[in-house]
Amino acid sequence: MKTALVTGGAHRIGQQICRTLHEANFTIIIHYNTSSIDAENLANEFNLIRANSARTIQAELSNIKDIEQLCQTIESLDLLVNNASVFYPTPINSLTLSDYQTTMNTNLMGPLFLSSTLSKKLSENQGSIVNIVDIHGDRPLKNHTIYNISKAAIAMMTKTLAKELAPNIRVNGVSPGSILWPENEAELSHDQKQSMLNKIALNKQGAATDIANTVLFLAQSDYITGQIIAVDGGRSLNQ
Ligand SMILES: NC(=O)c1ccc[n+]([C@@H]2O[C@H](COP(=O)([O-])OP(=O)(O)OC[C@H]3O[C@@H](n4cnc5c(N)ncnc54)[C@H](OP(=O)(O)O)[C@@H]3O)[C@@H](O)[C@H]2O)c1
Repeated sequence: MKTALVTGGAHRIGQQICRTLHEANFTIIIHYNTSSIDAENLANEFNLIRANSARTIQAELSNIKDIEQLCQTIESLDLLVNNASVFYPTPINSLTLSDYQTTMNTNLMGPLFLSSTLSKKLSENQGSIVNIVDIHGDRPLKNHTIYNISKAAIAMMTKTLAKELAPNIRVNGVSPGSILWPENEAELSHDQKQSMLNKIALNKQGAATDIANTVLFLAQSDYITGQIIAVDGGRSLNQ
């Protein structure tokens, strides 16, 4: 039985990644920060399907102490999925240090130090890491300067770690296009959504399962490392 840690696994894309990996017989460590009820419900659901096949763990991933504590609870690991992130606009004329630290620490420092601290455990099992990137790490999204930079950095982190951690650990990425509309302060208007859809070659949003299936594919592909697969319906063709 293989074990996967999925960060931000309580809902949306992270939850689907947990579901797909669980269906593929992984034992799941569901990381959450604030969504404790959703995380516990998901773990209970999994444990009813297969006893002892899921547990939850809380950590604020912009805090290095939380990352260290989380890593100490992990005995054995085959797959780390760095999915958790923050996403909200940071227009260039109103950047704040606080926004910079929140986004860079959550989207880059967390994945980097989780990967490095857990590398010994992953190495013992010839395991792998899958980072959830974003096509906007390559082609910037207007008004999202800090987020774009954080995702460009995690794309480079994917390739760098693939080199550093070979041959015992493979490191790959999945770059989603438009999958689920952003919520709360990043919410889009009807016109903004339509304009985004018009730029997708396949003319529709993807589904969380499209991302989760690609994570599973990379986890099971023993001869792929250092690659980032765009799952974007052709959005990067930039019509
Ligand atoms: N949605 C899309 O269409 C889309 C497009 C491109 C790329 N992506 C990428 O795909 C991944 C998942 O996207 P999503 O939309 O499902 O994500 P999301 O709902 O915005 O966030 C996922 C989780 O990240 C966790 N998180 C946020 N800040 C954290 C922190 N400081 N410490 C620990 N956990 C933290 C939250 O956990 P709690 O709820 O427990 O607090 C949240 O549930 C992200 O990496 C995102 O950048 C998504």
